[in-house]
Amino acid sequence: MNTNVITFDGYSGTGKGTISIMLAKKIGFHYLDSGALYRTLAYKIIESKINPKSDLTKFLVSIDNFDVSFIYNKDDQIDVFYDGKCLNSFIRDENTAKAASEIAKNNEVRKFLEKYQRLFEKPPGLVADGRDMGSKIFKNAGLKFFFVANLKKRAERRYYQLKNQGISANLPDLEDKLSIRDMNDTTRSLSPLVKPEGAIEIDTSDLTITKVFDIVMKEFDKSNIIKNNE
Ligand code: C5P
Repeated sequence: MNTNVITFDGYSGTGKGTISIMLAKKIGFHYLDSGALYRTLAYKIIESKINPKSDLTKFLVSIDNFDVSFIYNKDDQIDVFYDGKCLNSFIRDENTAKAASEIAKNNEVRKFLEKYQRLFEKPPGLVADGRDMGSKIFKNAGLKFFFVANLKKRAERRYYQLKNQGISANLPDLEDKLSIRDMNDTTRSLSPLVKPEGAIEIDTSDLTITKVFDIVMKEFDKSNIIKNNE
């Protein structure tokens, strides 16, 4: 059993990104933002102006190294780099998220990204954030979380997050877009967003980041994950 992977799955705006970055930093594990891989690929497809319906296979074959890396910035957030170029300002808006959610339904895309997601699993361990981390990609993870929160709270959080990143957003519009994305992600036939077996569910609607992190750390301490100091 792979005990050194911790997975965070759930809906957008539940705080799973923030908490998983905090945890990875705290315990010195590698970090994977799998949503950023979907967003980066969606961005690359849009940028290349290919027709995703007819030319997707050829396009995926033409990428011989999907070189995405994550680097902590001064705000303790993650900057996403592709081929050495920071993509934050291109991939974080809701339009790219929508495009990511569209390509995420495609089997070739999921297979292509699966390979790259697995490359992040390195000693001493990995914290993986996404939609199918605990249910599919790292099914044997030693500790799994599933984050939920009500739509209104999630939209508000995303709104302030985008504003802080200097990306324009509109609250009612964001609520609509999140709800469409939820529908897409939970009803698709391939790796839909589900609560992974054995995952600890946390409803973050009325919890502060500090409180959620506290719950997560308690579960981590109780778990069989091999700690750095063991
Ligand atoms: O997590 P984030 O909002 O960045 O993800 C963008 C989209 O990428 C999701 O709405 C989902 O459709 C897709 N995704 C996925 N599987 C993952 C991570 C993200 O299908 N593991």
